[in-house]
Amino acid sequence: MKNKFIDFFSDTNTNVSYGMRQAMFAAEVGNEVAGEDPTVNKLIETCCELLGKEDGIFLPSGTMANLIAFKTLIKRPGDCIILDKTAHPLNTQSGLIPGVVGASVNTINGVNGVFDVEDIYTILTSPKKRNIPRPRVVSIEQTTNFGGGAIWPVENIKRIHSLCDRLGVGLHMDGARLFNASIETNISPKEYCQYFDSVYIDFAKGLGAPIGAALLGSKSFIEEAWYYKFQLGGGMHQAGIIAAACLYGLENNVSRLKGDHKMAKLFAELLYEIPQIDIDKTQFKTNIIYFSLNNNAKTNNEGLLKSLSKYNVRLGIINDKIRAITHLDINAEDINYTVSLIKETV
Ligand SMILES: Cc1ncc(COP(=O)(O)O)c(C=O)c1O
Repeated sequence: MKNKFIDFFSDTNTNVSYGMRQAMFAAEVGNEVAGEDPTVNKLIETCCELLGKEDGIFLPSGTMANLIAFKTLIKRPGDCIILDKTAHPLNTQSGLIPGVVGASVNTINGVNGVFDVEDIYTILTSPKKRNIPRPRVVSIEQTTNFGGGAIWPVENIKRIHSLCDRLGVGLHMDGARLFNASIETNISPKEYCQYFDSVYIDFAKGLGAPIGAALLGSKSFIEEAWYYKFQLGGGMHQAGIIAAACLYGLENNVSRLKGDHKMAKLFAELLYEIPQIDIDKTQFKTNIIYFSLNNNAKTNNEGLLKSLSKYNVRLGIINDKIRAITHLDINAEDINYTVSLIKETV
């Protein structure tokens, strides 16, 4: 039996590397809420440069980043946010949008979490009525978590941007895995981000930091966003310790995301060879795959996960599918080992 805990549950479940810990140890720090932490300031400047945005704020989580973006972009409580039905802030985070943002939602039936301008055209252009919530924000997820890591094509984004721009509707990117999209398509983060009023990026997913997200936008957007950061208790103090890990992730762990995609592809291809498994191996382009057991299997999805857990292997179940996410602590040996266990179990 292998001793290593092989955790496919999420790319947030990475061990903080030695190099990253050293960077944290050496970090220069100050009072983040007062704008006096040099490492946080350097992180935000680096992100602004990389994403082509004027300003940004450092935040403890992606959940808070989406929340603050929505709060800042809506104009009054009850305003409507448009997102795909699989969107992360809608399906997890304990009712974040109605509970804390105070907005209504209109969900789109996209394909693997991706939609296009015609899917939102009627919602955005219908005549305004006083008794109907005003659409104020369109939010897209790059890449789509519950959509299997699908990449939003830049053409869809452009079309949606031009409609939103014309109508004065805000456009937000949940870029938890923007760098995965960028590495896979060779389209720079800046190119993707130019179409958005606000963008959140995450350092604690593929980039391997223990905590940390940044929300970027125009100077005036970030000025407003600061108020919500304070209201939510997101003001931090010597946050440079964390920002140093995030900078380390940006500098060292972006290009290696391609390797995570290779691992996910390998996993999908090996699973495809198992007759008891249903998987569309052509669908997955980044670091997230979904599959399920069919009627020929001796067990079901839950049974398989239970059995794998005895061997220190963890996968997740999202709705009726098993999800595996690759990251910097997963290598080809882990995939081969996991596939051999799956073969035995099914
Ligand atoms: C697409 C997406 N958005 C937002 C989040 C929330 O990030 P956090 O866990 O940092 O709050 C996640 C987390 O997995 C995610 O996958």
